[in-house]
Amino acid sequence: MAAAGEPKLIVVADPEALAQAAAERVMALISANPGRIAICLTGGSSPKKLYQLLGSDAWRGKIPWDRVHWFIGDERFVSESDPLNNMAVARATFLDRNAPAGHIHPIPTTAENPDESAEAYARKLKAFYGSDQLDPARPLFDLVLMGAGPDGHTASLFPGYPAVEETARWVVGVPKANVAPFVPRVSLTLPALASCREMLFEIAGHDKQPILTRLLNGETLPAVRARSNGETVWMVDQAALPEGIRGGR
Ligand code: 6PG
Repeated sequence: MAAAGEPKLIVVADPEALAQAAAERVMALISANPGRIAICLTGGSSPKKLYQLLGSDAWRGKIPWDRVHWFIGDERFVSESDPLNNMAVARATFLDRNAPAGHIHPIPTTAENPDESAEAYARKLKAFYGSDQLDPARPLFDLVLMGAGPDGHTASLFPGYPAVEETARWVVGVPKANVAPFVPRVSLTLPALASCREMLFEIAGHDKQPILTRLLNGETLPAVRARSNGETVWMVDQAALPEGIRGGR
């Protein structure tokens, strides 16, 4: 694997500016690839404004929907009709109205347990990629979207959990979550998430200030260890910045 570089910090004014800047990065990555494009979405509240924007009349016409495939970096092990289901949120917000059904790739949650679900998704990813070995010269995803939780988790990779140390499997079952919602999870692993041209974290709001402070201090939390083999970007708003550097960048 290529050495993962330090994240690039981009500071924007507020959540609206963040969604706008993130949408522009999505479009730039799409424009850079004339072929089939793979985007790995994330759950939680952070990406919702971006999803709304991508589905809006101003943006949806710019996306070559017939060339883009949509995956998800982690899922709560709940049915697809449950409002907690990450892909269901993305579908309802922008995908169902725009993307061909066969280009939406949810983590299946009808399996017996999260481990089986993880194996099924790994098989799907490997079939899409065309190999069961990740080649550093050929990223699995063009873009991986990420968020950071209050404990420093990203995707469903919680601090101190064995899933964070996984080096071989692409997707793992996570029997217990460290933060709400306390439902089992299924998560892509660090090496699978790293296989992308760009990994883009969206971190906004005053509630994120404590965890962003820890991340900027370089604590070895999953959200710090998650790095693209290409470029990693932390896009943050002013309210999330630690006091000392607020307004200063
Ligand atoms: C999930 C997410 C998770 C999320 C962070 C941040 O399933 O919850 O994928 O990793 O990105 O917890 O969540 P918020 O965006 O809600 O703060």
